[in-house]
Amino acid sequence: MCGIVAYVGYRKAQPILIEGLKRLEYRGYDSAGVAMLRDSKLVIRKSPGRISALEAILDDETAAGTCGLSHTRWATHGAPNQVNAHPHTDSTGRIALVHNGIIENYVSLKTYLQQKGIEFRSDTDTEVLVQLISHHYQGNLEEAVRRALQDVRGTYGIAVLCTEEPDKIVAARKGSPLIVGIGDGEYIVASDAAAVIQHTTQVIHLSDGEMVTIWSDGFRTTTLDNVPITKEVSEIEFSLEEIELGGHEHFMSKEIFEQPDALQNCLRGRLDLTEGRVVLGGLANVSRELSHVRRIIITACGTAWHAGLVGEYLFEDLARIPTEVEYASEFRYRNPIMEEGTIQIVISQSGETADTLAAAREAREKGARVLGVVNAVGSTIARETDAGVYLHVGPEIGVASTKAYIGQVTVLTLMALYFGRRRHLSQAETSDYMRELSAIPEKIRRITAQSDAIKEVADLFKGRENWLYLGRGYNYPTALEGALKLKEISYIHAEGMPAAEMKHGPIALITEGMPVVFIATRNSQYEKVISNIEEVRARGGQVIAVATEGDHELKRYSEHVFYVPDAPEPLQPLVNIIPLQLLAYHAAVLRGCNVDKPRNLAKSVTVE
Ligand code: AGP
Repeated sequence: MCGIVAYVGYRKAQPILIEGLKRLEYRGYDSAGVAMLRDSKLVIRKSPGRISALEAILDDETAAGTCGLSHTRWATHGAPNQVNAHPHTDSTGRIALVHNGIIENYVSLKTYLQQKGIEFRSDTDTEVLVQLISHHYQGNLEEAVRRALQDVRGTYGIAVLCTEEPDKIVAARKGSPLIVGIGDGEYIVASDAAAVIQHTTQVIHLSDGEMVTIWSDGFRTTTLDNVPITKEVSEIEFSLEEIELGGHEHFMSKEIFEQPDALQNCLRGRLDLTEGRVVLGGLANVSRELSHVRRIIITACGTAWHAGLVGEYLFEDLARIPTEVEYASEFRYRNPIMEEGTIQIVISQSGETADTLAAAREAREKGARVLGVVNAVGSTIARETDAGVYLHVGPEIGVASTKAYIGQVTVLTLMALYFGRRRHLSQAETSDYMRELSAIPEKIRRITAQSDAIKEVADLFKGRENWLYLGRGYNYPTALEGALKLKEISYIHAEGMPAAEMKHGPIALITEGMPVVFIATRNSQYEKVISNIEEVRARGGQVIAVATEGDHELKRYSEHVFYVPDAPEPLQPLVNIIPLQLLAYHAAVLRGCNVDKPRNLAKSVTVE
């Protein structure tokens, strides 16, 4: 998704703007640009491609200003070229704007403005917005922005400046996140905290329908109706080094190997082993009513949806609560039934995924309690749910989710124990599970130590263009997640499914030498999985198995085996996915793919 960085203060803006964009690269983009205000003159530079292409066209003119905007664009309307790149300016050249989101009624607005004689240069919805602001401009930038946004339908996070009001930036949000970094004599508006953390840890989070004006000597927050509001200043949770590579070749590698620490952070303070109690402070305000939940609907997208599928098994197994998992994009449009006693759990690493946010709003519209399982503190979804549990796994920079997935599954396990203890789980049973949970980080370490051996297998199969991933029970969501990891970073077609489902069609795909990954750890359906493995081998498939340490039987049926430490069945998803993350990572690197920024993908899909 697009990245926004805007600065006003006493320092030269250019290095702050460019460095900020680099910290937002992981959001995915295909063009970049800056607008600098200098002596009431506007200087624009923008380019398709990477930020390095933009840096190549910066000069003394852009280097001088202390007030500016910058943007990385992920194309939604109009090709990723120089004309469509942001910032966009109005016809008079007085006003520049950067935008993240979609103006849904831009065609009608464009027609209206063209009838007023306005000429457009780009194919973007964003240019319509800056021309509309200019159309309303009568010497007060905030007022012009307010009036323009009242005509707009859609989503936006914008930052705007004007040559007639130097050293001032106006920003507003509806649906696309914006924060304000509070410095000493300087202020930074940005899409997320990664772009400001180098300068300040004090931030405010704008909510939908809010505006902020920043100057070098202060800031003012209001609603779109110009009602002053006081926003809470919060502390950025993570440190700068957490968003650096830390000696790894890629963020994805760093995040795979830091999963044991991330999981420990996620568990910290939440396991009261003596009382056999799970402590989830974020649910305290709804704790009493959660004892009477009769049904759970989990909604999410992508990897978060796979975590939700594990959650379905966990809530039904450990808490005996009927649970279903819905794609957020489907749930939001199907007029869902949310009867008394039904709650929704939304899962989102970024806390900004448009479909997941809309699904949460739909459930609340139906009067249901909505709980969030979110990583990004202060994100929109986190702030719009009734209660929730943060992952606390630190910022996830790699587009392919790894440690956030482990965090999501861990939080869902904690929630299932939390609900289960309020129903039928005894103190002893709950304590046993918590002790087993505490042992998972070390088990993950033992698996990541096998990275080189897994790389060898990846090297053998990196050229195969079709893979299957199969598992049963708790291992079925792991099969789906393993397949997604491979396809989204190596561009190999991979399909996950329940192992038994293969016979109902997909078995026709099995050809000589086709890699088929089985998650075949010791569990209640182990024998059945062995039968499925034999069905694949009989047709020439090459089996790569995830097996429980000590299970040498499986070597008889598999060309390659990745061993994982044993764990209780409900906790196996936390360990069984690790070799599949590494398999996908190595296959992608060996295929020369851009692991952290895969083609066409964005870290947070804030458009529908
Ligand atoms: C996972 O590897 C993908 N990057 C993608 O499926 C992601 O999980 C999905 O877009 C949901 O994102 P969220 O968790 O930030 O809502």
